[in-house]
Amino acid sequence: MQVVILNDSDAVAEYGAQLFIKQLSKKPKAVLGLATGSTPIALYQKLIEANKSGDVSFKECSSFNLDEYLGLSGDHPQSYRYFMQQQLFNHIDINPLQTFVPAGDTDNPIDACHHYEDMIREKGGIDLQLLGIGSNGHIGFNEPSSGLMSRTRIKTLAPATIRDNARFFSSDEEQPHLSITMGIGTILDSHQSILLATGAAKAGAIAATVEGPLTAACPASALQMHPNAVVVIDEDAASQLQNTEFYKHVERENLRLKARLGL
Ligand code: GLP
Repeated sequence: MQVVILNDSDAVAEYGAQLFIKQLSKKPKAVLGLATGSTPIALYQKLIEANKSGDVSFKECSSFNLDEYLGLSGDHPQSYRYFMQQQLFNHIDINPLQTFVPAGDTDNPIDACHHYEDMIREKGGIDLQLLGIGSNGHIGFNEPSSGLMSRTRIKTLAPATIRDNARFFSSDEEQPHLSITMGIGTILDSHQSILLATGAAKAGAIAATVEGPLTAACPASALQMHPNAVVVIDEDAASQLQNTEFYKHVERENLRLKARLGL
């Protein structure tokens, strides 16, 4: 696991955006794994700017989102489909028919989960998976105790997640307690994954992810088994890590090596 500690949230977003831009220039037909939450918004803004200035094109790629609230249709303002339209898809040249978000309003959510996995497989798997992290260590909606090899399925949200996400719902809106989420096994199958976290509220979850034991109690710790995972965080999110100086040293060495190899 590569750990990249940067000065602030803008640098975190820039690092993530550059990874997506590189991925798309290397493979225009890339399959992108996308995430919601407040953390990736700044990265999406940078991708929108890069698309407008012609530095990246999404025309040939496809995307799969991590998760969706079960019970919300895509035109519900709190649905993750709606979020993606507003924050990214409506502003870039991606083919709308190639953007996939689990169907929150399906009559048959169990079949929809299997179908989602089939579609990812048919596309050849996810090239680059973006992740945020919940304060309880969840990725997607894989809450603590999620199976570390799980696939896309229905998950009950943890009370901490419902509390954290309540800020997005008005008091008269019913907040869903169920979701459809890619599984941890689905996420581990991605060729590369990038987890972003900023702010002190994520420091405990990041310490457990990077330096804690591999455990379903912190679902993001499963990334320790990912063959190509990078955790990109700001100083606040890094504040409970023990080995900060070592990660910074490794990163300096990585940059030197890349320069030497012309990468
Ligand atoms: C939700 C999403 C996660 C996301 C998390 C963190 O629960 N299901 O995919 O990582 O929120 O959100 P934020 O970035 O707003 O802290």
